[in-house]
This record gives sequence, C-alpha cells and structure tokens, in this order.
Amino acid sequence: MVRAFDASRPLAPTEVDELLATACTAPSAGNTQGWHFVVLEGPEQTERFWSVSLPAHRRASFGWPGLLDAPVLICPVGDPSAYVRRYAEDDKASTGLGEDVSAWSFPYWLTDTAFATMQLLLAAEGRSLGACFFGLFGREEAVRTGLNIPAGMCPIGMVALGHPAPDPTSHRPGRSAKRPPRPAAEIVHRGGW
Ligand SMILES: Cc1cc2nc3c(=O)[nH]c(=O)nc-3n(C[C@H](O)[C@H](O)[C@H](O)COP(=O)(O)O)c2cc1C
Repeated sequence: MVRAFDASRPLAPTEVDELLATACTAPSAGNTQGWHFVVLEGPEQTERFWSVSLPAHRRASFGWPGLLDAPVLICPVGDPSAYVRRYAEDDKASTGLGEDVSAWSFPYWLTDTAFATMQLLLAAEGRSLGACFFGLFGREEAVRTGLNIPAGMCPIGMVALGHPAPDPTSHRPGRSAKRPPRPAAEIVHRGGW
C-alpha cells in the first residue's frame, strides 16, 4: 500500500478507465458482477469524501497526510439486490437465494467487490502507480449518503490512487506495516484444519 501521492500528477481518465475495466474482469457469484465504483477525480471531487471521512479539524493530527494528496479516490460498492435478482433467475431459482438478501448465508456481493478491488490494486501496481485500500470503519453510512450512493448499497472501503510520492511518514512505519508475514506453517492446514 502506498500512502503518499504526488498531487501535481493527475491520472489520465483513460488510465483510470483501464484500471476499472481490469477490476471488472474479476470472478463473481453467478457472474452477477454486482459491483459499482464511485470515482472521484481531482481535488474538488476527492474533497467530497475527505470532508465526510476526515473533517478539517482532525487533519492536522492525521497520521498519513500524504493520503489526502491522492488525485483519484475510488469507492468500491457491492450491490446485494443484484445478487437477489440474479439468483431469482431460472438457472439459480432452486437455490432459494433469489427470495431476499436474508436468504444469503454469506454476502457474496462483498466477496466479489473485494475481488474486483484487488484486481484494481494489482493493475495499479503493474503500472507502477501507487494505491492504498483503506477501511471506512463505521463511516460507511456517512460516506454512502455523502457520495449519493443509493440506500441498500454497500461501500466496502476506499482506494486512493495516484503516482507515489516520498512518504513523509516512512521513517516511522505504522504497526500494521511492521507486522511480518505470517509463516506458511501457521496458515496452511493440509488435509483439514
Ligand atoms: C480491509 C482492509 C482495511 C484496511 N484499512 C486500512 C486503513 O484504514 N488505513 C491504512 O493505512 N491501511 C489500511 N489497510 C492496508 C493494510 O494496512 C495493508 O494492506 C497492510 O498493512 C499490509 O501492507 P501492504 O499491503 O503494503 O503489504 C487496509 C487493508 C484492508 C485489506
């Protein structure tokens, strides 16, 4: 994850479009493709998010000031109703998942939107761009209304995107960045857990 951006280098709209097109090749349950991306480009639009998420009075003490320089913010949004509609179709109706969102034991709209977002992050990295996915941590509803996202839709977080800049905080990496990768022996459970 990159948390400091060069504010003087906007991304070309075609570049953003290409990253989003790659995101949309992600796999999805029933090929529902039930994701949306709210794209904020330039300081006026990105401020629509920051004004909701990080009010001016909290900015001076914010740990990653370089994040606010990202020329593009992309909010990936999952649409539960798209999955209900898809699973009400003939080939899926026997699953019962076309009845209502409550019939779903697992929210595949979040899985699929996260897969698509990961593809976007990898595509950005592949172009030597910088990106950071960060959580909304309780501000989902405020962000949803602030960005005019319809009720019932699920914003899963935010992607900051742009050309990387020297990170003023790199000399003091946060605790998350300092955590070592977990060993495979602790993660992989062959033949069962
Ligand atoms: C669900 C999720 C939420 C995250 N939230 C934040 C966040 O709020 N702030 C932040 O700086 N990074 C956030 N991250 C990024 C992680 O801190 C980062 O992926 C992790 O430290 C590993 O670093 P790397 O991706 O650079 O290898 C988040 C990542 C995920 C997947």
